[in-house]
Formats: sequence, structure tokens, C-alpha cells
Amino acid sequence: MSKSISSESILAALGKVQEPELHKDLVALNMIRDLAVEGDRVTFTVVLTTPACPLQGRIEQEAREAVLAVPGVKHVTVKMDSSVPVDGRLRGALDLPIKHAVAVASGKGGVGKSTVAVNLAVALAQSGARVGLMDADIYGPNIPTMMGVQKIPGSNGDRIVPAEAYGVKLMSMGFLVKPGQPLIWRGPMLNSAIRQFLGDVDWGELDYLVIDLPPGTGDAPLSLAQILPLSGVVIVTLPQTVSLEDASRGLEMFRTLEVPILGVIENMRGEFFGEGGGEDLARVAKVPFLGAVPMESAVRIGGDTGEPVVVNQPDTAAARRLMEIAGQVAARISVVSLERRNAPSIELLD
Ligand SMILES: Nc1ncnc2c1ncn2[C@@H]1O[C@H](COP(=O)(O)OP(=O)(O)OP(=O)(O)O)[C@@H](O)[C@H]1O
Ligand SMILES: [Mg+2]
Repeated sequence: MSKSISSESILAALGKVQEPELHKDLVALNMIRDLAVEGDRVTFTVVLTTPACPLQGRIEQEAREAVLAVPGVKHVTVKMDSSVPVDGRLRGALDLPIKHAVAVASGKGGVGKSTVAVNLAVALAQSGARVGLMDADIYGPNIPTMMGVQKIPGSNGDRIVPAEAYGVKLMSMGFLVKPGQPLIWRGPMLNSAIRQFLGDVDWGELDYLVIDLPPGTGDAPLSLAQILPLSGVVIVTLPQTVSLEDASRGLEMFRTLEVPILGVIENMRGEFFGEGGGEDLARVAKVPFLGAVPMESAVRIGGDTGEPVVVNQPDTAAARRLMEIAGQVAARISVVSLERRNAPSIELLD
């Protein structure tokens, strides 16, 4: 009779498989669950830190191969699952069951922040995550149009019920004011509007809340960073180098506010605007480059018709890049939050 296979030997093998983004092994990261050994059959589940994990296939294959290499193992069944780790600070700050808040920002206007925010949110939802989208551009809210939703369902007691489209819960000032009505805000009002959008909206449990910011380095990003502990910010920039200075100003502001910079996205790459500005900015600022989205009419049409390109034309190059970028953003959130959890906490003495 052959010697039975021990769970320890399987865990030892899986302990040699690295999570490529987090640079730790699957066992140390507590990603292996439900390990069962029956004769020469081994079954286990790998719990990833995001359903949008871009390296899912590779992790599954490496885990399978590592276990198959254990003497005596003939059959391996790997189940893949995910559970986004909680950024406890958010719960602490506003008592919201939201795991991660991620802002989409830029140094200047019209670079495609709202377009990126919408497609990022929808792509994350398509991967199976629970996603909300908050339009913090209270001066020029575009999210309702881009998501094809004109109004919110109403309220549920004292809380506003968010609208929902393409599996994403959304809230925008555009739902609360009449079209064409000018929106004039001063600092404190802006602050309370953002607070309301977070606290008075019944978001439910979310893995990711994507926040679309107004352009520039004004009050909104400041208020937001003060009110809520962001898991990170992505900076959208155009390919031309002339916009580098503006983009870099936006990025550095978040650095000053101690918001982790998840990376840079170059939007509208192509003949018209050229290419390379995003990579340049990422290099100069020493932050990751998350990818480039080509300039394609399908993207604009998606925004105008309220059917985001990742839904409407998922086979276009732009939609594919946007989906890949969503995976990169999710992976970066996992990395940044792991780094934060591992960082020694600093206690301030008074
Ligand atoms: N990759 C792309 N290809 C083609 N058109 C695009 C692309 N990205 C964005 N657009 C279009 O460019 C215009 C500006 O985009 P968007 O509104 O997303 O920018 P923004 O940075 O949010 O602007 P604002 O600063 O005014 O909030 C929109 O008409 C949008 O459809
Ligand atoms: Mg916008």
C-alpha cells in the first residue's frame, strides 16, 4: 500500500507558489482553503484578493503543477474564488460597508476621467465584484448620461437608494438637480455634498467604490481625501507631453494628501494626440503605468449613448485595454492594502 499523502506536504508545495503581484506565497497569504486529500486526489480552493485578478490563470496553473509534483498525487482539482480584503479604515471613518474607495483624477479637464471611471466600474462589476460609482464632479456631472440612467429610484426611509446600471450602483448630483440648472458650490457646501453622497446613500456592501472627480486640483479632491480614506487614486492623462505638467501637478497633490497613487492611465492614444505621455509621467513620478486606451469613436459613442464601450463594443481595442486596466487597478489595490497592513503602525505621542 502506498504511503498516504499528508496535507502538510501539499501546503509545503503550495508554499513555494508565489502570488506574482503580492510577492508572497499562497500559503503565507492565507489564500488556500478547503484543502482535502483523498487517496491520490487533492482538492483545494485558491481565494484571490480580487475577482478581477489579471493573473488568475497563471496562479491556478502554478498551484496545480506544484501539487502534481508532490509524490503520489495523481489528480488535482483547483477551485478559484475571491474575497476582497477589507480596508478597515473606511468602515471606521464613515461606518460604510465599503471595502475600497478609488478615485479617478487628472490635472486637467477633458482627458477622459469620467469615461475611464465608468468603464472601470462596469469592467470590475463584470468580473464579479460588487461596485459603486460616485460622481463627485458636482460641477458637471456626466455619469448619469454615460451610464444611461436619468433618475434615482427614490429613498428608503432616510437614505437615498442609488440608481443601478450594468451591475453598478451609482449616485450623481445630476440626479438631484434639473438639467441646465447651474451648479455653484463653495467649499463647505461641497464638503457636505460629498459627505452626503457617501453617508446618506444606501450603497450596501461594496468591494469597490469608484469615484469620478472634477478636473484639476481644486476643493473636491481635498474634501474627498479628508472625508474618506481612499485606497488609492488613478491619474488619467493624455498622450502629449505638453499635458505632463498638469498631470504631474494633479498626481503630486494626491501624494501630498498621502493618498496612494495606484498608477497612471494614458487615454486617447493614437494618431491625433500621439503616445507616451502616460509612460513618461509614470516614470518621472515613479509610479506604475497601468495601460493606454486608444482613441476610438466607439468610446465616445458609448459615453454619448449611455452604453459604456466595455458593454456595447467589448471587442474593440479600447474596450479590451479598459478591461485589462480594470484588472491592473484591482491588483494594485490589493498590493497597496497589503503593504499598508504590513507597515508598522506609527503611534503619535502627545
Ligand atoms: N479613448 C477615447 N476615445 C475617444 N473618445 C474618448 C476617449 N476617452 C474619452 N473620450 C471622449 O472625450 C470626451 C471627454 O471625456 P470625459 O468626459 O470622460 O473627460 P473628463 O476628463 O471626465 O472631462 P471633465 O474634465 O470635463 O470632467 C468625451 O466626449 C468622451 O466620450
Ligand atoms: Mg468628467
